[in-house]
Amino acid sequence: MRGILFDGEAALVADGLGVTDLEPDQVRVRIGAAGVCHSDVSVINGTFGSMFPPPFVMGHEGAGKVLSVGSDVATVDAGDHVVIATIDNCGRCSVCATGHPTLCQTSKLGAAIAKRNETGEEPGPGDLPAYFTYRGERVLGFANTGVFAEEVVVSQGQVVAIDKRVPFASACLIGCGVLTGTGAVFNRAKVYRGHSVAVIGVGGIGLNVIQAARIAGATKIIAVDNNPAKEDFARQFGATHFVDSGRDPAVASVQGISPGGVDFSVECVGHTALMQEAVEMLRPGGNMVILGVAGMETEMTIAPFKLYQDKSIMGCRYGSSRPAFDIPALVDLYLDGRLLLDELVSATYDLTEFDKAFDDLEAGKLARGVLDLS
Ligand SMILES: NC(=O)c1ccc[n+]([C@@H]2O[C@H](COP(=O)([O-])OP(=O)(O)OC[C@H]3O[C@@H](n4cnc5c(N)ncnc54)[C@H](O)[C@@H]3O)[C@@H](O)[C@H]2O)c1
Ligand SMILES: [Zn+2]
Ligand SMILES: [Zn+2]
Repeated sequence: MRGILFDGEAALVADGLGVTDLEPDQVRVRIGAAGVCHSDVSVINGTFGSMFPPPFVMGHEGAGKVLSVGSDVATVDAGDHVVIATIDNCGRCSVCATGHPTLCQTSKLGAAIAKRNETGEEPGPGDLPAYFTYRGERVLGFANTGVFAEEVVVSQGQVVAIDKRVPFASACLIGCGVLTGTGAVFNRAKVYRGHSVAVIGVGGIGLNVIQAARIAGATKIIAVDNNPAKEDFARQFGATHFVDSGRDPAVASVQGISPGGVDFSVECVGHTALMQEAVEMLRPGGNMVILGVAGMETEMTIAPFKLYQDKSIMGCRYGSSRPAFDIPALVDLYLDGRLLLDELVSATYDLTEFDKAFDDLEAGKLARGVLDLS
């Protein structure tokens, strides 16, 4: 089968990829479609450090059809349509039991991240989940998956069955952008009706923050982007205001629209200067959520006094989501017409056109680009 392999120098279409035999708790999925997220760019340009040593199969935002399941799998069957979550979680440890599966450290990748955080030691090849084969070697998949491939093997905790009425091109986006952006609002910030929210960066992540803020009942939703072409997307998803930060100063503009500042600001780009600005925009008691991923070694400076009036800065991984609950809920919102998914798909590409999808993302032309693998 085919897939996009990053060999350390370049991403290329590899033919002759395989998947490993199923372990009892694993599921084999035929990928239907895969979204291109900015994290797919970051993992090859060095932003994520050496967490994923090449070669690895790229892609982490995918949906498809279950081909077969291991002997212990109880949640899905062959033929089910599934969204693939990038986090593997055991469902039994203390953080899983208290509703925080994105923090589970019992999976292979979770344990490798925990070890690196504690010891600074980079994971070795045996520490990471590698369920692809290529030229006789086991090969890693990015972010526990590697969905820029026709098939994947993932653990059962990573697949959630969905209503078959959702096309794969729309469903795949739930796997990262939608879960991350909406989860930041629903699960992490807990935006309430009447709140004001500033969203910095109107890409696939920011648009989902915007639409979740609309669904939550926020009354001022201020989108900020230095690309004025993003205004139409922002308003379509629910922004009440748009600030072109290439033309107007972001903090003063947001303060002008929401006097005294906003209840929440969400940074969806990955630049520390924008994170600092996002703190400046807060009203007393406000919270800033960091979704954008800055370089591993990048540091941010902040005067503690800026947080004095009960302000806070929140990290947020993968929308602090609970995939087994959040994914079906998001599908219900979509079928009800309240969550826009089809509108996120600006363009679809064949697997062989992945570099055009990356170029279009970097050029700011897209809400999301999707690789059609069906
Ligand atoms: N926290 C998580 O779990 C998680 C999950 C997925 C993605 N991410 C991260 O979220 C970020 C956004 O991803 P995306 O897929 O939406 O990217 P994207 O490329 O689709 O969107 C980025 C947006 O930021 C805008 N932008 C760039 N520089 C700007 C600036 N200086 N001022 C204002 N706007 C600017 C761009 O015009 C674009 O609209 C990335 O850092 C990605 O790695 C985090
Ligand atoms: Zn992503
Ligand atoms: Zn767990």
